[in-house]
Amino acid sequence: MKTDPNHTDDRDRVRDASDIVRIIGEHLQLKPKGREYVGLCPFHDDHKPSMNVVPHKQIFHCFSCGAGGDVFTFVQKFHKMDFRESLEYLAERAGIALTRRSLLQTQDEADSPAPSPRAAMLRACRSANDFFVTVLKRPDLGAMARGVIASRGLSAETVETFGIGASPDRWDGLLLTLQSRDLDIEPYIAAGLLKRRENGSGLYDAFRNRLMFPIHDQIGRVVAFGARRIDDADEPKYLNSPESSLFDKSSTLYALHLASRAIQRERVAIVTEGYMDAIACHQGGFQNTVATLGTALTRKHAAVLKRLCDTVVLLFDSDDAGQRAADRAIEILLGEFLDVRVATLAPHTTAKDPDELLKQPGGSDTFRRVLSGATDLIEFRFARLRARLSGAGLAQLDRAVRDELGRLAELGMDRLDPIRRQLIIRRLAEVTGLDPRSIGASIPSGRAARSDAGSQETASDQVAAKEIASVAIGPAESLVGCLLAEPSLWGMLSDEDRDLMKCSAYRWPVIEKLTHMLLNDAVGGNQPGLTFVLGREDAEGLHAAAISLSQRVEQDTGSDPARLRALAEGCLLTSRKSRARVNLDSVSDLAARLEANRRARAELGDDMRILPRSMN
Ligand code: UTP
Ligand code: MN
Repeated sequence: MKTDPNHTDDRDRVRDASDIVRIIGEHLQLKPKGREYVGLCPFHDDHKPSMNVVPHKQIFHCFSCGAGGDVFTFVQKFHKMDFRESLEYLAERAGIALTRRSLLQTQDEADSPAPSPRAAMLRACRSANDFFVTVLKRPDLGAMARGVIASRGLSAETVETFGIGASPDRWDGLLLTLQSRDLDIEPYIAAGLLKRRENGSGLYDAFRNRLMFPIHDQIGRVVAFGARRIDDADEPKYLNSPESSLFDKSSTLYALHLASRAIQRERVAIVTEGYMDAIACHQGGFQNTVATLGTALTRKHAAVLKRLCDTVVLLFDSDDAGQRAADRAIEILLGEFLDVRVATLAPHTTAKDPDELLKQPGGSDTFRRVLSGATDLIEFRFARLRARLSGAGLAQLDRAVRDELGRLAELGMDRLDPIRRQLIIRRLAEVTGLDPRSIGASIPSGRAARSDAGSQETASDQVAAKEIASVAIGPAESLVGCLLAEPSLWGMLSDEDRDLMKCSAYRWPVIEKLTHMLLNDAVGGNQPGLTFVLGREDAEGLHAAAISLSQRVEQDTGSDPARLRALAEGCLLTSRKSRARVNLDSVSDLAARLEANRRARAELGDDMRILPRSMN
């Protein structure tokens, strides 16, 4: 490809019209931080916000995995698009008409490289959706489907918003339409819309006489279909597109493109079991609802949602389904920093699912009660344990706790950060009435491998504790020390200071752990200090480090409250300044690289293969 002035022009116009904060903000929750924004990086398994978005430079950068670039880079990486696709997508969003080169491509396909198979499949899905929508509107062909829609109480607006259509009551409706337009049918086969007959002779429509629900990706491109029978005699009730390079069931959430804003706003995502339930929730005013596609919630789903919110409410029709799902979802809770709650309709209503409930008078009030009655997943599990253990003897309790810990360990509790692990241990203690320390102590004894890792960690924490006492410590560490020594100093910290503490680079991992533990407790006026740490955590290394750090600042200030306060103030100031500088340094470095990249491209054209790798 040679440099095309129109192309470059298009790119600049589209970039200028696409605010990077807004575009990235639609994909993940961004929080303002000084002049920038931060969020969880979608390009690695991020647990604290490492992704920075810099509005005045229109770039993003992840401090943890190093991903970075401009708005095009982000869209390409996130949606696995090539440059062209990202240009078209952003141009369409910004309402910009692309110039000659793009027109060439659509009017004279022969003159330009063939679209990728993925792009062709996307196009096939979109045109199939148009076809289904047209069928639904046809007086003759769509009559039955419109009857079903009316009986299910779907408004015209809902039908439009969700792009609902219908497939005709014959095996070749779509096929004949494509053939009459002389279109390439391969992408339709790849996307699962047409199937080959068993004996290899010819093709037929995959969906016949069904209500068609297009399934979109997060930015609203049709990638698959869910199809509900119109005739009750047809089996199965629902038929989904097969998985393809476009459609991965275990990471796709139905209606996410319509829900993501509301999910970000409410910081809660509601997850239902069915298409109709998700649609009913939207129509009933609960726009933060998505549905899984006939599967349980997976880790990949959780990763998508984690970027948008803190809490996921799994909505189940019956207690029974809820229990089974709670068992499966526990793994997700343990794997992700996400509050997972379980809500069941059963205790609140006789309606069998949200769809039925929301159609009843007063349904949305009941639905709100269902949501607020949602139980924390761990709690849900422990409630059952508690019920099972009522009246049990000490030996039985002990065995039950060991069993539960063993199961949690298998499910991934060993990967948990210490704070969350501690939380679970505390809950177990509450449920069983046993001492948290003895519960904590019984974890490593069950698993040799981990107990090794644990003691290694403890050993290095002990080393850290020694170093803290002897080497010069930085302002980030000193601040934590001050708070440990004098908890009332929490009163000096703004929300931004707390965020800063969360993201600061600490010289010792154990201080980072300690800081997160303190921050987690320092809510609603709580002022945790050394006593809190010693009471809460039974890892020896952590205790040692906390003690060492608080001793250190006591020493440095001669235990004088006024000097301690002055030290904390000084640390805060330095932290704020150095944080700003760190940002600017890496940002200007990135900006310089982008600029070099841009210049190189202007000289060399668009063929990135001739650039050194580091320029990409
Ligand atoms: P339900 O049978 O609970 O359906 O299946 P529903 O959502 O209440 O549907 P209506 O109200 O009868 O129309 C819940 C989900 O399970 C999947 C679909 O995703 C459905 O939305 N499912 C169900 C299938 O994939 N295949 C089936 O045959 C049935
Ligand atoms: Mn239903």
